[in-house]
Amino acid sequence: MGMSERQRPHVVVNMAMTADGKVDTMARRGARISSEADGRRVDRLRAQMDAVMVGARTLLAEDPRLTVRSAELVAERQRLGRPAQPTRVAVVSVLPNSGPASLGRFLRGTPARVIVFTTERTTPEGRRRFVEGGADVVVAGSERVDLAVALEHLAGLGVDRLLVEGGGTLVEALLRGRLVDEVQLYVAPMIVGGIDAPTPAEGDGFTIEAATRLALVDVTRGDEGGVLLRYVVDRGPHAREEQTR
Ligand SMILES: NC(=O)c1ccc[n+]([C@@H]2O[C@H](COP(=O)([O-])OP(=O)(O)OC[C@H]3O[C@@H](n4cnc5c(N)ncnc54)[C@H](OP(=O)(O)O)[C@@H]3O)[C@@H](O)[C@H]2O)c1
Repeated sequence: MGMSERQRPHVVVNMAMTADGKVDTMARRGARISSEADGRRVDRLRAQMDAVMVGARTLLAEDPRLTVRSAELVAERQRLGRPAQPTRVAVVSVLPNSGPASLGRFLRGTPARVIVFTTERTTPEGRRRFVEGGADVVVAGSERVDLAVALEHLAGLGVDRLLVEGGGTLVEALLRGRLVDEVQLYVAPMIVGGIDAPTPAEGDGFTIEAATRLALVDVTRGDEGGVLLRYVVDRGPHAREEQTR
């Protein structure tokens, strides 16, 4: 165990995609791809988590709730002495000086701790607006949010399990940093097409040698024709060496 080994939460990525591998339509307004039954599965997944994270463009496109909806699951968390809701987390390079427009659900929805990671590019005014909006604002990084630092910060706050709900730009960056432990992909029985429609992993992508290798843990077929694929990230002996270097 080298000195550089960071403490971070166990990271689970969950996304819903179409049979043609898109996580939204080309309109990028957060189209609903998941089914009702899959929504309940995601609710159970969230209920196991200490925090739930999204990227900036998902935040703006969807103003997501990221909450546990089921009253029974909320009650179960409380019985176990956990906060009723997981902490809501967003990763935003620059917080606008004009403040959080239309983020009512993310910032002020069901009460929960809200953390926004940003960079030195955000002005004090931008920070102030989001703090007034109810978020803890944490600066981590200069150009883009330093995700390893952000995850370390979350671990320091007691976040042991983190769910990442996209988008693909954030997911690719986390994969690049080898910061992902599990991937759950719901495949909906539909095709939306569109060369500009987003996918589960965006960014620059990887060479085939550097591709993230996955080990399939489970396949579940839903009544509605959807399929849930559950993977763990397959680190292998080489990857493990690299990770602790
Ligand atoms: N079906 C699903 O499960 C699902 C889930 C989530 C989202 N979506 C869809 O996906 C689309 C949004 O995804 P997206 O890929 O465009 O964006 P995203 O991953 O939600 O957000 C990416 C943005 O986060 C900011 N960021 C800051 N630090 C970063 C870092 N270290 N690494 C990566 N990003 C960082 C960047 O903003 P700057 O560019 O300003 O630096 C970046 O553009 C929407 O259409 C949404 O509806 C679908």
